[in-house]
Amino acid sequence: MSLVGPPPPATTNPLVRVATDLRIERELPVPFPPGHTRLSPTRSFRFIREPLPVLLEAYGRFGPVFTLRVFHQNVVFVLGPEANHHLLVSGAQNFSWREGHMGDLMPLLGDGLLTVDGPFHRSSRKIMLPAFHQDRIRASHATMHEETARGLTELGPGTHDLYAWTREVALRIAMRALFGLDPDRPGEQIDAGAEFERALSFYSRDYPVQMLRGPRTPFSRMQAARRRLDAVIFGEIERRAGLPDPGEDLLGLLLAARDEDGGALSREHVRDEVITLLFAGHDTTTSTIAFLLHELAKAPELQELAAGSPEELDLAVDETLRLYPPAWVGPRRSIAPFEVCGVPVPGGVPVNYVSWASHRLPDVWEEPERFDPQRFAPGRREQIPRGAYVPFGDGSRKCIGMRFGQAEIAVIARALLERYRFAPVPGHAIRIRQMPTLTPRDGMPLRLTTRG
Ligand code: HEM
Repeated sequence: MSLVGPPPPATTNPLVRVATDLRIERELPVPFPPGHTRLSPTRSFRFIREPLPVLLEAYGRFGPVFTLRVFHQNVVFVLGPEANHHLLVSGAQNFSWREGHMGDLMPLLGDGLLTVDGPFHRSSRKIMLPAFHQDRIRASHATMHEETARGLTELGPGTHDLYAWTREVALRIAMRALFGLDPDRPGEQIDAGAEFERALSFYSRDYPVQMLRGPRTPFSRMQAARRRLDAVIFGEIERRAGLPDPGEDLLGLLLAARDEDGGALSREHVRDEVITLLFAGHDTTTSTIAFLLHELAKAPELQELAAGSPEELDLAVDETLRLYPPAWVGPRRSIAPFEVCGVPVPGGVPVNYVSWASHRLPDVWEEPERFDPQRFAPGRREQIPRGAYVPFGDGSRKCIGMRFGQAEIAVIARALLERYRFAPVPGHAIRIRQMPTLTPRDGMPLRLTTRG
């Protein structure tokens, strides 16, 4: 194993990034795929608020590969099985995460898995993989059950915001199971969970607001939260590094990793991976549980099925991830020109796959808007075309936390469904926030009644 040096620093200055985008666009030798390429603030804002109808309309009009100008920038979107497979698997080496909009995460995440490419990504991922093996995840089950049971003591019959509830439970699980951080450690220490939530909330702001810099901007508040959070994480890194055995959780693994020359990961690199995992794993699992309960609350017969059988619950989770894939967009930048679905695309431009829209294409999915877990039943699942269903991405960068996330969702959802029946709150309509992941904008209030 060789710990390749970190990637070259990339600018996080939004003005420099905009200027670079405009320059690249002017000098392109290959035209953009067909689409809406004229500047349109109305369409840009509509896209930010409600990307799904905009994308499905464009798919109907232009096909699986098209361009939309979002604010200053022409962005290529690819939808559907063939295009997804190209971007994620067969042509994946032609796309950079760091140079695409994933790079916007660098001010919080630094150089963790989500913002790096090439050899640095490969060697980092190799070091981290053992922490996500089945046996390690089984070892985390105890923590998942304990924290769920602890959370359940705060619930009872009546109306509760299940999104807020799950968010707290999932954060405590992640902190304990992945990093051995004790959320209840007494004393003067900062509330790492609250600081993390504060930093994360920056990425739910509208993109133009995220670009503001200077004192008292959301950016500077995010950076301040990051500094306080870093103090906790670096403190834990120091404490563990001083122990004879740094432990078997992810933090321990990262601290114990050595290259052929005995070199260790830098403390900054360990920190960046820790924050990246918290970032990638927190909203995603929380939202999946909230949307699952939302759908089951609307369909009592499906709820009974899911409550009665772990297999049925798994199908319902798969179907939830089809309709509401939390990591709904995969932003990249093409390196060289390429062709997909017969459409030529330039090199050096933003290219996004969008699972949310791909999972609702009317020519791929029967009745795409209907919540129907049986689509994933054995016999039918095999008929889903390759690349059509990609809630965890695919290929060499498929979600590293998939099994951890699935186990956590199953433990929490099962415990909830065993104890309660869920019903919608009359008059409450869900609104979806897209950034940084799909989440219910106003929480997920549901009515709970105790099972007999
Ligand atoms: C329902 C739960 C989850 C969903 C739906 C999900 C989804 C995804 C998706 C779609 C990607 C690929 C993004 C792309 O192609 O642009 C991804 C990557 C990733 N996920 Fe997850 N995720 C979940 C849970 C987790 C958890 C629990 C963790 C950590 C504990 C995690 C850590 C990561 C990391 C580090 C990557 C980057 C992998 C790489 O580039 O090598 N995820 N996830």
